[in-house]
Amino acid sequence: MPEPIIIFDDVTYTYPGTEEPALHSISFQIEPGEYVAILGLNGAGKTTTGLCVNGVVPTMLGGELTGKVTVGGLDVADYPVREMSKLVGMVFDNPEFQMSQMSAAEEVALGLENAGVPYEEMMRIIPETLELVGLAGFEERSPLALSGGQQQRLAIAAVLAMKPQILIMDEPTSNLDPIGKQEVFDMAAKLNRERGMTVIVIEHEVEVMARYADRVIVLEAGRIVMNGTPQEIFGRVDELAALKLRVPAAAELAKVLGSEYGLWKGPAPITTEPAVKAINELLGANRG
Ligand SMILES: Nc1ncnc2c1ncn2[C@@H]1O[C@H](COP(=O)(O)OP(=O)(O)OP(=O)(O)O)[C@@H](O)[C@H]1O
Ligand SMILES: [Mg+2]
Repeated sequence: MPEPIIIFDDVTYTYPGTEEPALHSISFQIEPGEYVAILGLNGAGKTTTGLCVNGVVPTMLGGELTGKVTVGGLDVADYPVREMSKLVGMVFDNPEFQMSQMSAAEEVALGLENAGVPYEEMMRIIPETLELVGLAGFEERSPLALSGGQQQRLAIAAVLAMKPQILIMDEPTSNLDPIGKQEVFDMAAKLNRERGMTVIVIEHEVEVMARYADRVIVLEAGRIVMNGTPQEIFGRVDELAALKLRVPAAAELAKVLGSEYGLWKGPAPITTEPAVKAINELLGANRG
């Protein structure tokens, strides 16, 4: 087993000027190459958790952090965010607010320039990174002349240019249409599967997370209340409902069919295709 790439060891964090900690005694580990979904209601501490990984908390924002966050073997509190950005890239929900440059190439170049990457190397990395996110040849395009999905992929390219080992996406598709959402999730899945990138997605799209995530962490009021495989977590339909969290429709349907009609022997499906397949088989058996 490799060393976990992210370790939260009993982390409690309070923002400056507030009384109540945003995170309470959080402990979890993430292995290299895992795809982890973080779920929780507004204010649960999802974004704060992400900011602890990229070091914005506590290095830039201050406040009081107890316990320890270790990322790639480094104690995050000891390294400037600029240093952490070589290891961790984070993108947010509103791609156009993340765009500040005249062209897609300049957008990608920004972090590289700040990191002091030589010009020739930048000229090599920029097209390579644009291609990675499906924006090959878009170098000269104004970021404002891109669709929302393309803008979000450009924001992701800008962090990928730094060759981070960890990509954190904080509600990356909440402002995108269904096609834009699909583009972003497909790309993240590809980076995870083909490049072994560790991916953390903060998301309300439980259907998508049931399909892609290796693990689901559920936060409530700054505490971890569930941490397990999507199969385990999305099988706990009633507990998720009590937390006011959405559940994949397939899991909900499977639960009803299982508990009221006793239809499943094994674990209930949590994604649509296996649920439809199982229901078809049952209907077929009843017809015959
Ligand atoms: N900069 C800040 N200063 C003070 N308190 C903050 C700050 N940012 C967040 N908080 C508080 O910390 C807690 C956790 O917030 P956080 O943004 O991590 O939640 P979240 O799960 O990402 O919510 P959302 O779904 O709304 O994005 C909340 O109580 C919030 O009010
Ligand atoms: Mg948030």
